[in-house]
Amino acid sequence: MFPRTHPRRSLKWRLTLCLALCLALGGGLSLSAGAAQSGLAYLGEELKALQADPFANPGLLWVDRGTALWQADPAPGVPACASCHGAPESLRALIPTLPRWNPATQRLENLEGLIRQCQSERQHQPPAPYESEALLALTTRLAQGARGLPLSDAIAPEAAPALARGEAFFRERRGQLGLSCADCHERYAGARLRGDRVSEGMINGFPIYRLTWQTLGSRHRMFRWCNEAVRAEPYPFGAEPYLELELFLRHRGAGLPLETPAVRR
Ligand code: HEC
Ligand code: HEC
Repeated sequence: MFPRTHPRRSLKWRLTLCLALCLALGGGLSLSAGAAQSGLAYLGEELKALQADPFANPGLLWVDRGTALWQADPAPGVPACASCHGAPESLRALIPTLPRWNPATQRLENLEGLIRQCQSERQHQPPAPYESEALLALTTRLAQGARGLPLSDAIAPEAAPALARGEAFFRERRGQLGLSCADCHERYAGARLRGDRVSEGMINGFPIYRLTWQTLGSRHRMFRWCNEAVRAEPYPFGAEPYLELELFLRHRGAGLPLETPAVRR
């Protein structure tokens, strides 16, 4: 199906070799047998300190931008988020339960989707595009308001098939490298891969400030990045398979405290 060109094959070999070496060197400390651990546990001391720093954490820039956007009228005569919702913290309890099942639409909805829906239905504005600075800022501000709350395991019975599809996606081998999410984030959790220490692939820190990106990114940006890392075709932002994956990852990481904005390598 894929043109098996020489450079790609050699890349596959390099990665396979790297993974094999990591294991051989005893770097592959699979921690998946115990309780779920945040990506924070896999960071070096410096990045841990940066995340905890109330002034230097670079993600706080988006928190401030989010506060400003929350309070501003998007256009003359159009009410701000704040004028209907009050403080961002009023939505605190919602955040750890996302994505959630909407019985009216029979679909999953995540935080980005809910914000965009309010922008179009309540403010009658064009919704901020995925991964735009505005949507990242609002998402970060709302999630930061829920810092410390544990990811919820509450899942509507109607969402059971979506949860099962999310788990199947997580365990399915994909891309030219034929690796599943579980291969890297369960089997090789703790191993070093091209400068990164592979974590358990948890979502409690998002949006995260990633040094590799030199900016903040959403959960779906991370999924796209991880898909591309194995040479698989990524899905569009907000796509159903990514919402299902997000649901499964919430379930898988239930109990982990939200730590937005997290800092990652
Ligand atoms: C080739 C190995 C590999 C595969 C396969 C892979 N990832 Fe990742 N993933 C990484 C690396 C490397 C990072 C960055 C280091 C880290 O945080 O683990 C990462 C980071 C993440 C993070 C961020 C963790 C945090 O604490 O910020 C999430 C979430 C994630 N991956 C989810 C997935 C999902 C879902 C899949 C399957 C679609 C997947 N990954 C497949 C290598 C992989
Ligand atoms: C004109 C009033 C109004 C404005 C302005 C508004 N919203 Fe809403 N929003 C609502 C209403 C009403 C709901 C539905 C509440 C419910 O179902 O409990 C809602 C729901 C939400 C939800 C889901 C809450 C939940 O518990 O289900 C989020 C998140 C949200 N809005 C974010 C925003 C953001 C971000 C903005 C600004 C970009 C915004 N809203 C602007 C009225 C508004």
